[in-house]
Amino acid sequence: MVIFAVRIMAENLIKAAVDAGKEERYQVMLPQIKALVEGETDLIANISNVMAVLKETMNFFWVGVYFVKAEELVLGPFQGPLACTRIGYGKGVCGKAWQEGRVIVVPDVEQFPGHIACSSLSKSEIVLPVIINDRVRMILDVDSDQLNDFDALDAKYLSEVTAIISDVYKATMI
Ligand code: SME
Repeated sequence: MVIFAVRIMAENLIKAAVDAGKEERYQVMLPQIKALVEGETDLIANISNVMAVLKETMNFFWVGVYFVKAEELVLGPFQGPLACTRIGYGKGVCGKAWQEGRVIVVPDVEQFPGHIACSSLSKSEIVLPVIINDRVRMILDVDSDQLNDFDALDAKYLSEVTAIISDVYKATMI
């Protein structure tokens, strides 16, 4: 019953959000994401739902996570076209965000040295590290098929999403 209610709430919020501006969509979406992960401790289930809500609410071309596993990033839950499964440390935008532990906004992927093109349609990108206990454990990657599609607003609100994912990760570790 609770799951049903959350699903109806999420569907209504998504419908309301798609017509709104970018900031309003983020503001509507964040409490919804928090509610979705509450009470569920399975990491993959939670991240899968978070990626689905991001895709549907923000209409991203591609959104997904990579997990830090040994010396590589390995693909996790995502929404969008198929993607590269493994990315080395320091490689591409994702590997660079892992190495440097910071958010990277790429207005034009063709201008980013070493960019890894999983899809030829991807034109701009934002990558955020998910930091848990001072270490990058995951990467959140969002791609657009439009040039210059991400800015400080996306960095601000997507950082709130990575903070939620970080909390979910910690809850799973306990
Ligand atoms: N473009 C990324 C690779 C991941 S895909 O875009 C999903 C990069 O350069 O790291």
